[in-house]
Amino acid sequence: MNSLEQLTTAAQADFLAAADAAALENAKARYLGKTGQITELMKGLGKLEPEEKKAQGALINAAKQQIEAALTARRDALADAQLQLRLNAEAIDVTLPGRGRAPGGIHPVMRTWERVEAIFRSIGFDVAAGPEIETDWTNFTALNSPENHPARSMQDTFYIDGNDSTGKPLLLRTHTSPMQVRYARSHQPPIKVIAPGRTYRVDSDATHSPMFHQVEGLWIAKDISFADLKGVYLNFVKAFFETDDLQVRFRPSYFPFTEPSAEIDIAFGSGPLKGRWLEVSGSGQVHPTVVRNFGLDPEEYIGFAFGSGLERLTMLRYGVNDLRLFYEGDLRFLKQFN
Ligand code: FA5
Ligand code: MG
Repeated sequence: MNSLEQLTTAAQADFLAAADAAALENAKARYLGKTGQITELMKGLGKLEPEEKKAQGALINAAKQQIEAALTARRDALADAQLQLRLNAEAIDVTLPGRGRAPGGIHPVMRTWERVEAIFRSIGFDVAAGPEIETDWTNFTALNSPENHPARSMQDTFYIDGNDSTGKPLLLRTHTSPMQVRYARSHQPPIKVIAPGRTYRVDSDATHSPMFHQVEGLWIAKDISFADLKGVYLNFVKAFFETDDLQVRFRPSYFPFTEPSAEIDIAFGSGPLKGRWLEVSGSGQVHPTVVRNFGLDPEEYIGFAFGSGLERLTMLRYGVNDLRLFYEGDLRFLKQFN
């Protein structure tokens, strides 16, 4: 074996022995670097005769190519090994059990909201949404509750910082009835709409929550009577509770924005309060002053409105005796509805 062959074999062995990229670069420097052995041999060629220089040069070049090939092969092998290590470290173990996602469910009051929408849509009502922060005019005055009118104290109001354009304090709507005004003023009769949403009052006990949900209903046309209110509402509750066997009563009442007015009570059909009446809704024939505030002539247009509590409907449907349970976030309670 001549010395060039020995040099090549030594280089190949050195490269193979290099355990990482840095060791390999050091080994490379010993052969191919500025003062490496192959480089030195090349430099030595200058002193040779032309014939010999040619022969020797070819041999050195062949050795150099072999060494470079060995270097490249080792580089690739080290890179592959590195990649394999990373892949192993980052590998996903497909045999591990999944983390899963806890099954979610819709809140019972939201379920009621959806059912109410579906039932009223099916008989041609539009569904509208409006602001929870209201003006004094829309929440009260336009609904025939003038300032200092005792009826305003029927609903204990949350006022918020900030005034409307007339300088009156803004408030959290105490009912969805302001949507009657907003909708009627921006649509042409016949007006046939429900407006479900959140409402707020300074109220808290087993049947009252400071934040609760109402659904407003309004049907205004040339010939809509109190009889239509009874027909539509009875049809609604039968569809909602999925039974004709219901105790429902229209109890004469007072609202500034309806005349005549009635509150609608339904008796619990199940649960600890079975047989007990629960008020679910206010209702009545829309007052002429309110029809005028809709921008319509009360001599021409007439109709009914109602405002029902979604929590109350939910309590009756499931036989729940305390509405605060809906807002405690106790999964043991909530899970029962899914
Ligand atoms: C009103 O709010 C009237 N705007 C309803 C109305 C609309 C009458 C259109 C005529 C025409 P009332 O204050 O009674 O009325 O509330 C209506 C319903 O909302 C109640 O029957 C009850 O079901 C529900 N409700 C009222 N206050 C609360 C509360 N704090 N928590 C839960 N539900 C409530
Ligand atoms: Mg009431």
